[in-house]
Amino acid sequence: MKKRIALAAAALCIAAAAPSMAQTAAPMSAPSDPAALYKSFGEKTGLTQLMDDFVNRLAADPRIADKFKNTNLDHLKHQLTEQLCQVSGGPCQYQGPDMAAAHADMGVTKGNFNALVEDLQKAMDARNIPFSAQNQMLARLAPMHRDIITK
Ligand code: HEM
Repeated sequence: MKKRIALAAAALCIAAAAPSMAQTAAPMSAPSDPAALYKSFGEKTGLTQLMDDFVNRLAADPRIADKFKNTNLDHLKHQLTEQLCQVSGGPCQYQGPDMAAAHADMGVTKGNFNALVEDLQKAMDARNIPFSAQNQMLARLAPMHRDIITK
């Protein structure tokens, strides 16, 4: 458990200290294939299953479930699948609101954010996503904390 929290914190630190380094982490391990990370996650089918499990975990996590009580979870699963598909180099275009608009007035704290990251790690572990691929995905998502954490 400590390890997970440390990793989540590390993801935030990477983003805060050196966002450009975080962005280049994936190409360093797969210089010739921009969709390598997308493939590591099992492409669209794998991401769809991952986001299904992940959002179910969010809605069941007592630390943050309250935030999702009025949310259409199927819609959220779909939007997150599109977003992570795009972020990982897949052939998708996330068409939803930007992260600041999507989370405005939600009062998301750093603790909320780290809880969500921990739930994502559990969902990725459950699907046996390789650890290096997990870290690459987290490094790409972590910079979004600036637009999401408002409290
Ligand atoms: C890197 C972290 C995060 C990412 C990538 C992310 C991404 C997204 C996306 C793509 C949507 C859908 C927007 C839309 O189509 O309307 C969304 C909505 C939402 N997010 Fe996040 N989010 C993150 C962190 C968080 C955190 C930490 C919380 C609170 C614990 C949170 C709570 C919500 C809620 C409640 C909604 C649904 C709002 C509604 O019902 O319309 N998110 N998020």
